[in-house]
Amino acid sequence: MSGFLSEKQRLRIQTRHKSSIEYYGYQPQALYWSSQEIQFIRFKKLSEILPRNQACSILDVGCGFGDLKAYLQQQGFDIDYTGIDLSEDMVRSAGFKHPGIHVKQGDLFDFNPAEKQFDFVLLSGALNEVVETELEGTAEQKGRYAKAVIRKMYDTCKQGVAFNLLDNRNAWVASRPDLQSFQPEAIADYCQSFAHNVSWQDGYVDNDFTVFMYR
Ligand SMILES: C[S@@+](CC[C@H](N)C(=O)[O-])C[C@H]1O[C@@H](n2cnc3c(N)ncnc32)[C@H](O)[C@@H]1O
Repeated sequence: MSGFLSEKQRLRIQTRHKSSIEYYGYQPQALYWSSQEIQFIRFKKLSEILPRNQACSILDVGCGFGDLKAYLQQQGFDIDYTGIDLSEDMVRSAGFKHPGIHVKQGDLFDFNPAEKQFDFVLLSGALNEVVETELEGTAEQKGRYAKAVIRKMYDTCKQGVAFNLLDNRNAWVASRPDLQSFQPEAIADYCQSFAHNVSWQDGYVDNDFTVFMYR
């Protein structure tokens, strides 16, 4: 299984986000969120994995502007934050929006963090797009990049992983060929093949679910 994006896929994702920043500026809509409320509801759910009274390091995969850092600090979490994003324009914008933020450009495989390098590895919305080669793949191949990212996130964490995906039980999501969506049970089964203590939750928005995995 190749976990790596082709040049064509990278360029497509990068171009799409360059245009969205030009159009919307540093707003959640540039990240393809309909509102800040929707973005923050997802952050709140992810943050349930974090300890309240203990400092921890975090890797945020597909961090966009790095808004998760500001959100978590506002909520009182003591975090040492690193973000990565495929889009150079996002990385540059993150630096403008949140001066001093630690963000790198690339996907998780470019960044190639060491095993157990971060206490927690989080991801919100970065696996919601179909990557082009998967449009052409067989049913078993669908989602293979997303699954490779999820596995690598687990290898990278010391304590836990939380990520969200679009839920293909939602009719609107399932009707969109450009969006990648999954059945929660199927993803939980996949995660259980290598991780301890896997759980998932839905119901906080109507088209999304969050998976939690612990070491
Ligand atoms: C929906 S936005 C969410 C941004 C951020 N997580 C948030 O919720 O504010 C998805 C982000 O993931 C980035 N992205 C997409 N595919 C990626 C990949 N394979 N690796 C890293 N970043 C990726 C995009 O450039 C974009 O900034």
